[in-house]
Amino acid sequence: MEKAIHKPVLLEEVITFLSPYQGEIIVDATVGEGGHSEAILVRVKPKLLVALDTDIEILQQARMRLSNYPNVKFILGDFSQLSSLLKKEGINEVSAVLMDLGISSFHLEDPERGFSFLKNGPLDMRLDRIGNKLTAYEIVNSFSEKRLYEIIREYGEERWAKKIARAIVERRTQAKIKSTKELADLVASTIPKRFWPKKIHPATRTFQAIRIAVNKELDSLKAGLKEAINVIKPGGRLIVISFHSLEDRIVKHLYKSFEKKKYGRILTKKPIVASSHEIKDNPRARSAKLRVFEKV
Ligand SMILES: C[S@@+](CC[C@H](N)C(=O)[O-])C[C@H]1O[C@@H](n2cnc3c(N)ncnc32)[C@H](O)[C@@H]1O
Repeated sequence: MEKAIHKPVLLEEVITFLSPYQGEIIVDATVGEGGHSEAILVRVKPKLLVALDTDIEILQQARMRLSNYPNVKFILGDFSQLSSLLKKEGINEVSAVLMDLGISSFHLEDPERGFSFLKNGPLDMRLDRIGNKLTAYEIVNSFSEKRLYEIIREYGEERWAKKIARAIVERRTQAKIKSTKELADLVASTIPKRFWPKKIHPATRTFQAIRIAVNKELDSLKAGLKEAINVIKPGGRLIVISFHSLEDRIVKHLYKSFEKKKYGRILTKKPIVASSHEIKDNPRARSAKLRVFEKV
């Protein structure tokens, strides 16, 4: 497969928040294709950059891209286990942790991964294809109608969730739903055309919901933020970029609870969003929100 180019979002802002940590240890907990990491290596110049990702295939992309930098330690793992993953490498504390949530262009580009409703592929959607046995196929073809409704409603914030869950269950009694295209077409045909969202594909919310359920993304995020705050040393920062309201709400609430516990202070009273210039250049930045917490 040809290498997809993922443009790192809010890059200047990330670099600015990380700039005090030259010569220190920085963790990129979602290295992906290494866009943020490469800029951090070049511009912030940490002593060590820990490059973590739960997806072995994309971690390999990052390894290739960053192969010229000797001060990078690659770790395969979920950021919900950040402190133990770091301890295994003999690292007890770090100066900053960056999390750029969700999936990469790399995932959307490869139909085999099953993330895209625009490219036909198997219903997979797992980031961790080694450890995670729950695929989108399992969810779509074996979860109860009620559970499907809850997932699509809660994780997709989809007002047509009830109808979509019913349509999935009806369809699968005839034959298993196997591909992303089948699912995308089914969702699109369930929502009356006049109610289709204007700027996104009608299956966007359903796909987001199933992806979140497959990867238990919200649970990982909650655990990951708590892990990160524990391994960051006084004066260090946690920088999180989220892409939808469910993620952003979790970040906002946990930062508030960290403040209440006197762990430090929130540096971004309001989330930082991308400029219209950046959004024009990179539509994915449209929904990005960056929040920073500084430990005392
Ligand atoms: C938006 S991409 C990161 C892009 C990267 N910042 C860049 O500039 O190239 C998000 C990455 O986080 C990874 N990821 C998602 N959830 C994760 C988790 N719980 N633990 C570790 N990595 C995760 C995904 O596999 C994906 O590669």
